[in-house]
Amino acid sequence: MSLHFDILTLFPEMFPGSLGQSLAGKALERGDWGYECVNIRDFGEGVHKTVDDTPYGGGAGMVMYADVIEKALLSIQPQLSSRRRPGSGVGNKKIPDQVRDDSMRLIYLSPRGKPLTQSLVKELSATPEITLLCGRYEGVDQRVLDAHGFEEVSIGDYVLSGGEPAALILMDACIRLLPGVMGNEATPDEESFSNGLLEYPHYTRPAVWEAADGQAYEVPEVLQSGNHEKIKAWRENRALEITRKVRPDLLK
Ligand code: 6GU
Repeated sequence: MSLHFDILTLFPEMFPGSLGQSLAGKALERGDWGYECVNIRDFGEGVHKTVDDTPYGGGAGMVMYADVIEKALLSIQPQLSSRRRPGSGVGNKKIPDQVRDDSMRLIYLSPRGKPLTQSLVKELSATPEITLLCGRYEGVDQRVLDAHGFEEVSIGDYVLSGGEPAALILMDACIRLLPGVMGNEATPDEESFSNGLLEYPHYTRPAVWEAADGQAYEVPEVLQSGNHEKIKAWRENRALEITRKVRPDLLK
């Protein structure tokens, strides 16, 4: 299997969700990728399996216990405990970089993380083992993130009620880059972001299409010309125009 996700969540029923359908779903059946959910609730404290508590310093919402998250994490990656620096303890932060290798990543989905970009997605899709921590409520105790060296990743500048939809989005973006998943539909060099630009517009038959209001819309003539050089130039031009208009920040 080329890509495996371990997902720490209070809502394992949310997986595989949309990734059980279409191309990702077929790739899952083939074993091109796989996942395992760990229900954080199973590691909760006491008869009520409590996983969170009020924040030190006050404020809204609840914070998930460091210890509960760590127990959930160690249930899938017991080797992590032996990766700790000898003599580690209070005040001794994260796993040293030299014992972290490229074969695994620990990611906490959070609106405060670094942005999920296509270049990060490419990196992740080449990582055999990815652990995704999905927080709920106000978040998780910072100390478990520090202690285990979680990277924080955000899928955009807006706030979700939990990390699960963000995890599904990250997974989708990685899975579609796996060899054989996209088949002929993949045009990896032309698609949005791979060349730093948004993609040019697409058209198919008919050459003239009449909308419900009777207005006729034509396919740009150059695309019907068969002149591949001109078509390429038109597409590059449109990609540039669209990017300048919609996402000028990408051109900087
Ligand atoms: Cl990764 N998680 C949550 N909870 N909200 C988000 C997000 C992630 N990215 C943007 N908003």
